[in-house]
Amino acid sequence: MKTANFGVIGLSGRGSGMLREFLAVPGVNVVAVCDLYEDRAKDGFNIVKEIAGNEPAVYLDYKEMLKRDDIDAIFCATTWITHARIAVDSMRAGKHVGVEVGGAASVEECWQMVRASEETGKFCMLLENCCYDRTEMAVFNMYKMGLFGEVVHLEGGYRHDLRDEISMGRELRHGRLVNFKHRCGDLYPTHQLGPICKLIDINRGNRLLTISSIPSKTRGLRDWIRKNKGVDDIDANYEFCQGDVVSSMIKCANGETITLHHDCSLPRPYSRDYVVQGTKGMYEEDKGFYLDTPEFKEKYGSHNWAPVDEIRAEYEHPIWKEYEQESANHGHGGMDFLVLSAFAEAVINDVKPPIDVYDTATWMVITCLSEQSCAMGGMPVPIPDFTNGAWIDREPYRKGKFCLEEVCVEE
Ligand SMILES: NC(=O)c1ccc[n+]([C@@H]2O[C@H](COP(=O)([O-])OP(=O)(O)OC[C@H]3O[C@@H](n4cnc5c(N)ncnc54)[C@H](O)[C@@H]3O)[C@@H](O)[C@H]2O)c1
Repeated sequence: MKTANFGVIGLSGRGSGMLREFLAVPGVNVVAVCDLYEDRAKDGFNIVKEIAGNEPAVYLDYKEMLKRDDIDAIFCATTWITHARIAVDSMRAGKHVGVEVGGAASVEECWQMVRASEETGKFCMLLENCCYDRTEMAVFNMYKMGLFGEVVHLEGGYRHDLRDEISMGRELRHGRLVNFKHRCGDLYPTHQLGPICKLIDINRGNRLLTISSIPSKTRGLRDWIRKNKGVDDIDANYEFCQGDVVSSMIKCANGETITLHHDCSLPRPYSRDYVVQGTKGMYEEDKGFYLDTPEFKEKYGSHNWAPVDEIRAEYEHPIWKEYEQESANHGHGGMDFLVLSAFAEAVINDVKPPIDVYDTATWMVITCLSEQSCAMGGMPVPIPDFTNGAWIDREPYRKGKFCLEEVCVEE
């Protein structure tokens, strides 16, 4: 079996959880771990020793780790404002890189990732696990089979009540708190934007043109802190910058519209609010499917939704047929294992990843552009074309079971 050596940077909740998943992927050797906090770096060491049996080198400074010539790729799960620079440094040190999700702090750092990848030949893959979610993949499969017709409008969101995690940022040594204090925009756009962009061929015949974002007022975090940490807490009177709900609208070159919502500081159930609406039918998360066919209307009625589970079973993506058993024991319903498997497969075979640096830059840049738009009262902001025109005539993508451009069935 072919194998590759990996270094892991960032070993808090997400990094350590993903490290466990990663070690279950065939061919993955973790030879080094790193975190700014020594206890977390040691946790990484212990996880590798317990699961894989080897003793990885431990670093507090990732630049020291990048000097090693036995590392093929880096898995980075640090903070939103450190991902891009670590990705750039990794590629410039001759290593492929997979980065956890989060938005960019500046347009410039997105260009730096693109330049580093183009100049070094190393890839940068945003590890957007939601692209491999079971339902997202079934929706993609249905779309490719023509069931929704031509897609006209899409929606998505990150609607997750994170008031405790954000407000306890100091105690938990967690990165989100400072972002909510000082920034206002769609801070976490890629969970639904990733699957949306893949579905409508962004950077391959289509592109994102402009974004306009408007924040609501901000109440949720301060109320939660006063109620749960007390009125004497250091942040009990803090005026948080981030609006409780930030709504954005994106226009695409081929005419589609995309709405995104960032909604993490009010009480609510979890939802990514995925909507795909086309000329022949649609999908709406939390509601179901609707198809404009006599057979569908006969079975479900003219104005009713068909249940997600029922339709999904009929149009299951081939990768989920293969991985259903395997994935059931993994994080976030299995999509974490699939995205890590896709990353490892590209590294081990030294081939193009299913999410490349152009996807990574295009999805991450939405955060800083939405901040600009919010600051200007919702003014539309142009979205850069990181392909420099190649989106109208790109080199072919690589086919394979992890492909996100088409549904590939491997023999
Ligand atoms: N895809 C998903 O479903 C999912 C779920 C949870 C978190 N995430 C993402 O994963 C990332 C990590 O999340 P978390 O909750 O563990 O965050 P966290 O803030 O708790 O931890 C970040 C860790 O990175 C370390 N770090 C920061 N800069 C570093 C540097 N220069 N060198 C070495 N280590 C450094 C910190 O010390 C810390 O331990 C975030 O981007 C988050 O958005 C993704």
